[in-house]
Amino acid sequence: MKTLQNRVKEDGVVIDEKILKVDSFLNHQIDAKLMYEVGKEITEHFKEKNITKVLTIEASGIAPAIMASLQLDVPCLFAKKAKPSTMTSEFYQTDIHSFTKNTTSTVVVSKQFLDKDDHVLIIDDFLANGEASLGLHRLVQAANATTSGIGIVIEKSFQPGREKLESEGLDVLSLCQVESLSGNKVKLMGE
Ligand code: G4P
Ligand code: NA
Ligand code: NA
Repeated sequence: MKTLQNRVKEDGVVIDEKILKVDSFLNHQIDAKLMYEVGKEITEHFKEKNITKVLTIEASGIAPAIMASLQLDVPCLFAKKAKPSTMTSEFYQTDIHSFTKNTTSTVVVSKQFLDKDDHVLIIDDFLANGEASLGLHRLVQAANATTSGIGIVIEKSFQPGREKLESEGLDVLSLCQVESLSGNKVKLMGE
C-alpha cells in the first residue's frame, strides 16, 4: 500500500536497528484517514472470505481493526490484557510472550463474543515475532471458530513472525513490509 509505505519512509524513526517508531500516525497519534485506507485495503483482500468478526489486541491494533470492521460491516472485538485470574469460565484466555518487550501478558476475550460459527480476521499494527497474532489465533481455536486470515499494518520481514504464522497455515496480508532497519535506515521490500 503505497501511501502507507511512503508514510513509513517519511515519518518512521529507527530505534536500535530493530524497532521502528511510528508514533505520528499509528502508535500514539493516529491518522484516521490513513487508517481508513488501511481498513479498505485489508477489506479488499479478505472480502470473499465471509468474515463475521475482526479480532485484535489492545491498544494499537484497535485503530486499523475498527476501520476494517467498519468496511466489512462486522463487529470489532479486541482482546484485553488482563491480570492472570483463576476465574476463567467466562473468558477464553491465553498468555502472549513479547520478545520485543520481554514481557508475558495474559489476554482474554469474553466467551460471549466468539462463537464456533465465526470466521475471524485477525488484525494487528505490527508483525515481529508473531506471538500476538498466534495468541489471538489460539483464542479463536479455543472457541472452535475459524481464523480466516491475518491483516498486518507493518511487518518487520527480518523477524520470524510471517514464517511462524504461515507454518500454521494462516493467510497473512501485510500492507508494508520492512526488509531491514540497519544503518538507521528504513529499507522496504522491493526497494
Ligand atoms: P509479535 O507479537 O509479532 O511477537 O511482536 P512482539 O511481541 O515482539 O511485540 C510486542 C509489542 O511491541 C506489540 O505492541 C508490538 O506491536 C510492538 N512492536 C514490535 N515491534 C515493533 C516496532 O518495530 N515498532 C513499534 N512501534 N512497535 C513494535 P503491544 O505490546 O501490543 O503494545 P501496544 O502498542 O498495542 O500498546
Ligand atoms: Na503495538
Ligand atoms: Na499490537
